[in-house]
Amino acid sequence: MSTPAEWDDRYRATELVWGTPPDPWIVEQVTVLPPGRALDVGAGEGRHALWLATRAWDVTAVDFSRVGLDKAATVAARSPRTVRARLHWTPLDITSEAIPNQPYDLAVWAYVHPDPEDRAAAIAKVAHALAPGGLLLLLAHEKIDSHPDAGSGASGSGRHGLPTFGAAELSAALPEDMVVEHVEWRESDPYHGTGTDLAVRARRRRSEAIAP
Ligand SMILES: C[S@@+](CC[C@H](N)C(=O)[O-])C[C@H]1O[C@@H](n2cnc3c(N)ncnc32)[C@H](O)[C@@H]1O
Repeated sequence: MSTPAEWDDRYRATELVWGTPPDPWIVEQVTVLPPGRALDVGAGEGRHALWLATRAWDVTAVDFSRVGLDKAATVAARSPRTVRARLHWTPLDITSEAIPNQPYDLAVWAYVHPDPEDRAAAIAKVAHALAPGGLLLLLAHEKIDSHPDAGSGASGSGRHGLPTFGAAELSAALPEDMVVEHVEWRESDPYHGTGTDLAVRARRRRSEAIAP
């Protein structure tokens, strides 16, 4: 599934596809950070954007599915005014359009799987949108191998034709001033069948201190 129309149809078909709780790994990583400016890439129904905004982050949530973003805004409409004021729902194709409101202190990339030929450039674009010291938190399906309609693994396609990610591919896509601080693998959630998810934390280097 890789077009805005397909995602729109999917979001139209159900009430909330992903549910509202943020991913526990994202929560664990962000809870220790002071709030700042965040980019939620492929925000979908906004579970991370909304959670971040309730933690005082100012969030630009981008997605090429307007239906997804509309649902996110509908959910967020129940939040206090101060939380809503920190949320900026922005329709945008990460593979072809520029990221607004840069720079960011944090970029969350959760389960966004552009086609392999577009992926490296999109990841690099997100990395470049970070301020020095800014963090990229990326979660992706690395391997989805036991679902009946799953594909063949790290370089193949998973459920719904999702192209899966590899850690090496991700590192290669990151600009030189990004340092990978942490990589872990975990089981995919049951919705996707058994498989492996990749979780990566990478930080944009701060500029070198000037020698005395
Ligand atoms: C699996 S959903 C994840 C949604 C959200 N990040 C979450 O974890 O709940 C993937 C999202 O990425 C969006 N997406 C996929 N390709 C995109 C692209 N090229 N530009 C912007 N959004 C994209 C889809 O519309 C969809 O909302």
